[in-house]
Amino acid sequence: MLETSDLAAAAAAATVPDIALNDGNAIPQIGLGILRIDDDAVEPVVESALSAGYRHIDGAAGYNNEGGLGRALAATGYNTGEQRGKLWLTTKLRDSQQGYDSALRAFDDSLKLLQVDYVDMYMIHWPTPFNWRSGDTWKALAKLRADGRVKTLGVCNFLPEHLQRLHDETGEWPAVNQIELHPTWQQRDVVAFCKEHGIAVEAYSPMARGADLNAGNGVIAKIADAHNVSPAQVILRWHIENGTIIIPKSVHAERQKQNLDVFGFTLFPEEHAAIDALDGPKRAGHDPLTFTYA
Ligand SMILES: NC(=O)c1ccc[n+]([C@@H]2O[C@H](COP(=O)([O-])OP(=O)(O)OC[C@H]3O[C@@H](n4cnc5c(N)ncnc54)[C@H](OP(=O)(O)O)[C@@H]3O)[C@@H](O)[C@H]2O)c1
Repeated sequence: MLETSDLAAAAAAATVPDIALNDGNAIPQIGLGILRIDDDAVEPVVESALSAGYRHIDGAAGYNNEGGLGRALAATGYNTGEQRGKLWLTTKLRDSQQGYDSALRAFDDSLKLLQVDYVDMYMIHWPTPFNWRSGDTWKALAKLRADGRVKTLGVCNFLPEHLQRLHDETGEWPAVNQIELHPTWQQRDVVAFCKEHGIAVEAYSPMARGADLNAGNGVIAKIADAHNVSPAQVILRWHIENGTIIIPKSVHAERQKQNLDVFGFTLFPEEHAAIDALDGPKRAGHDPLTFTYA
């Protein structure tokens, strides 16, 4: 018999809509981000998220915690069988491993650490236009997809010029572009290009790593008070209403639950517009034109 906590998690998971992708797959609109969590600390963080009802985890080889993520999946049974089928698992290729053969080798290493036999989404982590290899890398990712070891192919941090170049070289648009996106950095040109080409937008740092919780001289806090929710919930709700996939990170079980609980209220149009108006010229992360995670 299912425990009460299992039922609560199943109910929470069921409230999160799926976003349909251009390859026929569907991704849960909310996932857990696990950047900046040590390998030996990530296991309980993932386990508490799964207990809260998260069915989408956003990892990366570059986060150096795929081993801990894999241990959490094995301990909870989400690495195999029917349970595995209920989880959307993303990982990303390190920039230093781009290229056809090296991407294939890197993927094998990731699968071993994750203790699974496929991932739902494999992503190119940064475009590194100063050392462009994404066309060749994509061909390796397409082989992994053809072999049934990856379901969906995505990219991160691609600007329109990088998406176009990838399309010119491979004839494909990725299913997902994961970009930095939050109220004070909305990247409307990138979002518009993705929409035009059927590429789903996934927001990383959806709260600007926490900085946007205080954005706009109390604008977010005022809306939160009006709905009796937290500033984090207001920002995440705004993303949900925009149709964006989000991957908020928290190591705290209570915040994880809160970040999933954004379907019990709706922003009034003027509140949504007030958050739209916070767009600004300052990113929280790195510039894709110059950055490499290596
Ligand atoms: N593809 C890429 O290049 C890329 C780059 C950056 C990030 N990402 C992905 O995106 C994920 C999320 O981005 P992020 O971690 O940079 O930033 P974020 O999710 O915007 O913010 C995380 C910060 O907000 C805090 N927080 C979370 N929930 C909260 C709540 N309900 N109330 C108050 N504070 C809260 C967290 O603290 P606690 O943990 O202490 O709760 C943490 O300090 C990453 O984990 C990663 O998976 C991808």
